[in-house]
Amino acid sequence: MGFLDKLFGKSTKQETNTVINNNKLKIAIVQGSVREGSNGESVADWMYDFASQRKDVASYEIVNLAKYDLPMLGQELPETDQAGAEAAIKAWSEKMASFDGYIFVTPEYNHAVGGALKNALDLLKPEVANKAAGFVGYGGLGGTRAHENLRLIFGELQVADVQTAVTFSLMSDFENMRVFKPADYHAANVNQMLDQLIAWAGAFKTLR
Ligand SMILES: Cc1cc2nc3c(=O)[nH]c(=O)nc-3n(C[C@H](O)[C@H](O)[C@H](O)COP(=O)(O)O)c2cc1C
Repeated sequence: MGFLDKLFGKSTKQETNTVINNNKLKIAIVQGSVREGSNGESVADWMYDFASQRKDVASYEIVNLAKYDLPMLGQELPETDQAGAEAAIKAWSEKMASFDGYIFVTPEYNHAVGGALKNALDLLKPEVANKAAGFVGYGGLGGTRAHENLRLIFGELQVADVQTAVTFSLMSDFENMRVFKPADYHAANVNQMLDQLIAWAGAFKTLR
C-alpha cells in the first residue's frame, strides 16, 4: 500500500473527480517550471493526488505553465507569431481567472523564483487579485528562497499567501535528484498548508 493510501485510505483519481461539484472552491496546482523533464511535474502530480484525497470543500486542477508557450511581457514578435502569442496570453489569463486559489509548485533558480513563472505572473493582475495562494517548492533548500521571492510579488498582485510552505529537498526527497520520493513527514505540513489555503480561499471569495 502506497504512502497516500496509508494516510487516507484507497481512492482513485477517477472517483475523486466524480464528486467534484460546482460549489466547491476551485484550486489550481500551478506547475511553475517550463523546463522539459522538470522535477516539478512529479511534484505537481503528487500534490494533486494528495489534495484530491482529502475530504475538502475544494476541487483541484493541475495547470502546467509549460503548456502555455507564453511570450515575454512586452516582447516584440514577428507578425506571424503575434496572434499565437496573444492567444497564449488569453488562455493563461482566463485559466488563472477561473480559480479561487492557487498552489504554486516552483523550483529555485539562483536564489529566486524561475524566470518563466515570474514572467507569467507579470502578465496577470485582476485575474489573481483577492485570492489565496500556497507554495510547494523543490531545490537544494526546498525552494524556500523562491517562496520568499513570490511573497514579495504577491504583495503587489494582491494575492494572500498562506504562512505554511512545503519544501522538498533535492537531496532527501528525490532519488538521484530526479525521482520524486517524498519523506512521510511532509504530510503534516502539506495538510496545514491546504487547511490555511482553503480557509483563505473561501474567505476571499466573499470580497469579490
Ligand atoms: C540555473 C540554475 C540555478 C539554480 N539555482 C539554484 C538555487 O539557487 N538554489 C537551489 O536550491 N537550487 C538551484 N538550482 C537547482 C534547481 O532548483 C533544480 O535543478 C530543480 O530541479 C530545477 O527545477 P526544474 O526541474 O523544474 O527545472 C538551480 C538550477 C539551475 C539550472
